[in-house]
Amino acid sequence: CKTNTLYLDMQVRCKTNTLYLDIHLTVMVVPGRQDKEEKIYYPPEDLQMNAHVPNFNSYLALYKRSIEEPEEFWRDAAQEFYWKESPSGQILQFNFDVTKGNISMKFMAGAKTNMCYNVLDRNVLDRNLGEKVAYLWEGNLPAHHQTITYGQLLKQVCRCANALKQTGVKKGDRVAIYLPMIPELVVTMLACARIGAVHSAVVRLIIWPCYSQFAGFSSESLAERIVDAQCSVLVTADGVYRGEKLINLKQISDEALEHCQEKGSPTVQKCVVVKHHALRASGTDECNKLQVGLNIMSTLKIYNLYKNVVILTPWNAERDVWWQDIVDSESEQCDPEWLDAEDPLFILYTSGSTGKPKGVLHTVAGYLLYTSLTFKYVFDHHHDDVYWCTADIGWITGHSYIAYGPLANGATSVLFEGVPVYPHVGRYWEVIEKYGVSKFYTAPTAIRLLMKYGREPVEKYDLSSLRVLGTVGEPINPEAWLWYHDAVGQGRCPVVDTFWQTETGGHVLTPLPAATPLKPGSATLPFFGVQPCILNEHGEELQGEAEGYLVFRKPWPGIMRGIYGNQERFESTYFRKFPGFYVTGDGCRRDKDGYYWITGRMDDMLNVSGHLLSTAEVEGALSEHAAVAEVAVVGRPHPLKGECLYCFVTLKDSHEFTHDLVEELKGKVREKIGPIATPDFIQNAPGLPKTRSGKIMRRVLRQIARNEKDLGDLSTLADSKVVDVLFSYRCKTA
Ligand code: WT7
Repeated sequence: CKTNTLYLDMQVRCKTNTLYLDIHLTVMVVPGRQDKEEKIYYPPEDLQMNAHVPNFNSYLALYKRSIEEPEEFWRDAAQEFYWKESPSGQILQFNFDVTKGNISMKFMAGAKTNMCYNVLDRNVLDRNLGEKVAYLWEGNLPAHHQTITYGQLLKQVCRCANALKQTGVKKGDRVAIYLPMIPELVVTMLACARIGAVHSAVVRLIIWPCYSQFAGFSSESLAERIVDAQCSVLVTADGVYRGEKLINLKQISDEALEHCQEKGSPTVQKCVVVKHHALRASGTDECNKLQVGLNIMSTLKIYNLYKNVVILTPWNAERDVWWQDIVDSESEQCDPEWLDAEDPLFILYTSGSTGKPKGVLHTVAGYLLYTSLTFKYVFDHHHDDVYWCTADIGWITGHSYIAYGPLANGATSVLFEGVPVYPHVGRYWEVIEKYGVSKFYTAPTAIRLLMKYGREPVEKYDLSSLRVLGTVGEPINPEAWLWYHDAVGQGRCPVVDTFWQTETGGHVLTPLPAATPLKPGSATLPFFGVQPCILNEHGEELQGEAEGYLVFRKPWPGIMRGIYGNQERFESTYFRKFPGFYVTGDGCRRDKDGYYWITGRMDDMLNVSGHLLSTAEVEGALSEHAAVAEVAVVGRPHPLKGECLYCFVTLKDSHEFTHDLVEELKGKVREKIGPIATPDFIQNAPGLPKTRSGKIMRRVLRQIARNEKDLGDLSTLADSKVVDVLFSYRCKTA
């Protein structure tokens, strides 16, 4: 047909006297004539040989079935797992239309199961994987590493589950987790899942390219999340090294719990502290001896010693307990709690455009099905793979593709505590060589950072084990895509650009590595069960080549079930703008081949290094400074972070715009939200461009921040002189 080409891939098996030749014939219809500027990358043949979805036609056939026969499709997918009781009726029940009643979606309603049982016991008991490595833990320093098998993980999870029960945690209770990338993090999540408690992980020790150091959330952000979810227990650690920087997690936790008190919400009864920095990270015997000795001397303070630095950690004897003291002595048997398919599994906070973070809620059965299936197909998982996702577990990427998805498949994963550039800029490549990583998943911001150092650090290591590369978090620019494909993947490995959100639970637009021809910068096509549409401003559906709002027509198993404690906000954020559709908030273009290209957020959200931030939240933090009268924050392109924050600040009359003030304002944002939100630019704005009705024209501010003189239609602007003044005060450097 007109826009498609026929692709023949032949191998022949014929018998002669002395040798066999293999002949397979695959006929594939692949999208697209090749435009000059748009090179298409076809799946490598060796990957197709034994892939789960070995060519484009099989993708199309499976996709068609998932849309036309969703009941059968998902019932088949569910067979893999253990169900204590089967679903009572339809596998999928939903209402996506606000005009017809409350929004709801249910998968496997009436079924009883347990997430932890499915990802651990099932692997150990039914699949005989007890001895298989679940995690290869790699610490901040290359010398610190540890392997954990499925059997060991199960025992440790049971001990932790029993300990949580001892501290009073019951089914449905919320447990806050503020841990670094250590095995105890996965253990705590799974222990919650085992007993039906709902975990809320607030761990954002993220990749922060410019500083390569801790850039997580502040104690205030942690407190806000604990209060919103009314958590009864907080699990944290004494401290952790990220690169060369020591982060005193216990101190941040203490401050957060104090904020909770101040907010009149002292829900946390127990704070469980993993002795990680003292025992595992700093590691020397000397240090441990000292630790133990000092412990005996003082019940109020615990001393950590590392590189001759002594850190005092306050200790509240009534509230705080060491993980090692309560977990190690517990039994390694713990019966799983059989939950309803739609019981909550976890809450994960993501920025909201009104400023207050939203507690995205996921439930047991649908999330299990979806993360497991996407992991299997998108990374074409096989038993002997070594998989590594560099994200933090406290991000949805880590929940879905370090914890649940890989474990459900019995995969072996690297769990990495460090940063990409410590102790040297080749650390990622070193780890890939060390463990023979075959599937590697990271973020465009990390690729752009590492690209800066050129190919030399990459070429020092043997990366021949790699088969599939993945990216997530933000649009990947073709330059970074090509470097990833050519320098890291040596031109042999498909790059799967996976588009999804905290809310979608798993990949929704994504290539399948052996099936989908790739175009650099496009997240390509929908995953099974996902029906994307593009709408215009009036909510009309656009066909063919088009650009507009990206929405989805029907639920898939992994979609969020609500915003914790706020059905109204859930419906108004995602379902009210275009009744009948889930609205992603992203803009999107569909090209002539039906490929999807994410164009960026359509709302007041910014994507800094793959992390969503709300401009309203940053504006709120800046406005708290006594000198500030008014403020508006917009995004500006940034070579490493993708986008950075550019703030226009109008001061109260008596205040002067000085360097010190700018530093104070940055400090304010760090304290309220966290270092990730630190503005790169703060400019003096004697006035802001407003319409006659008083609405700030952000479109104009975005252009000023970019030094773009083309401002479009300014006829609605109340005072046009403001624009010239703002240009004259523009920040040229950060
Ligand atoms: C937003 C969701 C999915 C886990 C990480 C982020 C942007 C995500 C891509 C991609 C273009 C992407 C979107 C989306 N985004 N992946 N492959 N291409 N944009 O989760 O914090 O919920 O952010 O990240 O804007 O809406 P999140």
